[in-house]
Amino acid sequence: MPLQQGDILRDRYRIEGQLGKGGMGAVFLAHDLTLDIKVAVKENLNPSPESERQFRREARLLATLRHPNLPRVTDHFILEERQYLVMDFVKGVDLHTHVEKQPPTPAEVLTWAESICGALSYLHSRKPPVIHRDIKPANLKLQPGGNVVLVDFGIAKVFDQSQTTTGARGLTPGFSPPEQYGGQRTDARSDQYSMAATLYSFLTNQRPADSIQRMLGKEILKPVRELNPAVPEHVEAALERAMGLKQEERFPDMASFCMALAGRM
Ligand SMILES: Nc1ncnc2c1ncn2[C@@H]1O[C@H](COP(=O)(O)OP(=O)(O)O)[C@@H](O)[C@H]1O
Ligand SMILES: [Mg+2]
Repeated sequence: MPLQQGDILRDRYRIEGQLGKGGMGAVFLAHDLTLDIKVAVKENLNPSPESERQFRREARLLATLRHPNLPRVTDHFILEERQYLVMDFVKGVDLHTHVEKQPPTPAEVLTWAESICGALSYLHSRKPPVIHRDIKPANLKLQPGGNVVLVDFGIAKVFDQSQTTTGARGLTPGFSPPEQYGGQRTDARSDQYSMAATLYSFLTNQRPADSIQRMLGKEILKPVRELNPAVPEHVEAALERAMGLKQEERFPDMASFCMALAGRM
């Protein structure tokens, strides 16, 4: 049974509406009756006992994260084969919807980039590193004060050297790096690629050529400044490098990419 408005989960969270819907489940706005605050409740199907263990492990890990550009995860539970993650409700509009109505200036995009850099540098510096693996406009929310918050931890993956990446993956043409399509290992530089592709789409008002199409030689990445001459040269150069098809071509880490974007390199 899909959740309905008015349903109460665990005697605590009253469902008030739906915030989004994806392939794996949905995200609801709920009222936390204990604390008397709004929260976001993310629901996922729970197909196997193995995924249950993985879910509990990931939820506990996400609950340890604290950053102004990330929602806090405050609870998790499993009910009738479905997994639930409770987190801060982030006010505002997602950047995919926002930029469609109001194309941003390069200066505005660069301030958003600082927020994303903050969130990703923080995630990548955890031990072991947390890789988001689904950076794209729809997973970023612009709060009323201008702060950008990164949401969607559905497929975040704790980076484990010994483990090849398996399980659910976010594949979004234009935003996913080539290593995410094949059986190759993703790492922090995969988030760098997707973040750069996201900024590219904000600055040019078009989705960048898909990484696999580029790899097959079927499409080329149009230079940013050809589409928007108002973009500074150093920004174009930084995005091109971060969107390198091979991981080694990109910046070694988020700090170097963010410095280059800011023109401090
Ligand atoms: N913590 C949150 N606060 C407010 N809105 C959220 C929150 N998490 C997700 N959303 C909204 O719900 C949408 C879908 O959530 P997301 O976690 O991205 O799910 P999916 O895995 O289906 O993409 C997001 O694009 C965002 O607009
Ligand atoms: Mg999403």
